[in-house]
Amino acid sequence: MFAEVGTWEEVVAAIKALAVRGAPAIGVTGAAALALWASCHSGDDAFDPAYGAAFHRMAAQVAGARPTAVNLAAMVHRAEGEFDRLAGTGAAAGGIAAGLFDFAKALEAEDEAVNRAIGANGAALLQPGSRVLTHCNAGSLATVFYGTALGVVYAAAGQGKVQRVYADETRPVGQGSRLTAWELSRAGVPVTLLCDDMAASAMARGLIDCVVVGADRIARNGDTANKIGTYGVAVLAAHHGIPFYVAAPFSTIDGACADGGAIAIEQRDPSEVLPAPIDGVDVMNPAFDVTPASLIGAIITERGVFAPRDLESQL
Ligand code: MRU
Repeated sequence: MFAEVGTWEEVVAAIKALAVRGAPAIGVTGAAALALWASCHSGDDAFDPAYGAAFHRMAAQVAGARPTAVNLAAMVHRAEGEFDRLAGTGAAAGGIAAGLFDFAKALEAEDEAVNRAIGANGAALLQPGSRVLTHCNAGSLATVFYGTALGVVYAAAGQGKVQRVYADETRPVGQGSRLTAWELSRAGVPVTLLCDDMAASAMARGLIDCVVVGADRIARNGDTANKIGTYGVAVLAAHHGIPFYVAAPFSTIDGACADGGAIAIEQRDPSEVLPAPIDGVDVMNPAFDVTPASLIGAIITERGVFAPRDLESQL
């Protein structure tokens, strides 16, 4: 499904409404929103200080559209750097718009290369015949190419190593059922959909060999924010002695964040949990939780596979 947008405000609305979602995908989309703003202002006077000030004000709003996935702020920040560089060359507003569009395309190409490298690095961890559990969607509908966690699955499946993927439904928004199960079945990867509360018994029955999930923000110590419910899956995996892997690009690591306690968790609308409000019933709806580094076996990145404690030395 495609959503057509003509203004940066529409892009922000699409990000907030999850029309585009997933940390790497919203990062590249955020950068593209800046290019869209510039193209709508290509007749402006780029030497007028008001032009640059309006650009950076708009960029701050794009970066803040969703708070947890650090890729959004990081990619917007990189696009702002490119804007400043282009403006510094004396380019006219039309040239800045064209330059920002090229920059967004370059970020897109970069994410594809990163997906492929994560896939190759992660596939090496999987044994032939693997039954992989995943939570939420970290696949082609969360990134530019075939995904991070699902990139590992697709690369391993290409090597004949994947027997089956178990996809958590992922309440309340259902990314596991609506997106992960859908895209895996289309790609011909055997997939079984299960409700979130069935993961424990699937593990106890010996159906799961490893867990691979994505990430929205990783702190310096390896604590990882991902879709709500990921923490519970990690606890279950530890209890059953099942390896738990996080697959994410380096752009998801927030060097400014010492540990998971510093990660802002997005609170979403109660209607996602309870579409028809009930008098006297309050709803909690955090979109993400934090899995402590101690529960993570390895973090699979485009630069290699790291124990969470070794991540900091790579920054
Ligand atoms: O709220 P969403 O759908 O944007 O959440 C995204 C996730 O949490 C994904 O599971 C993911 O692992 C990070 S994006 C590759």
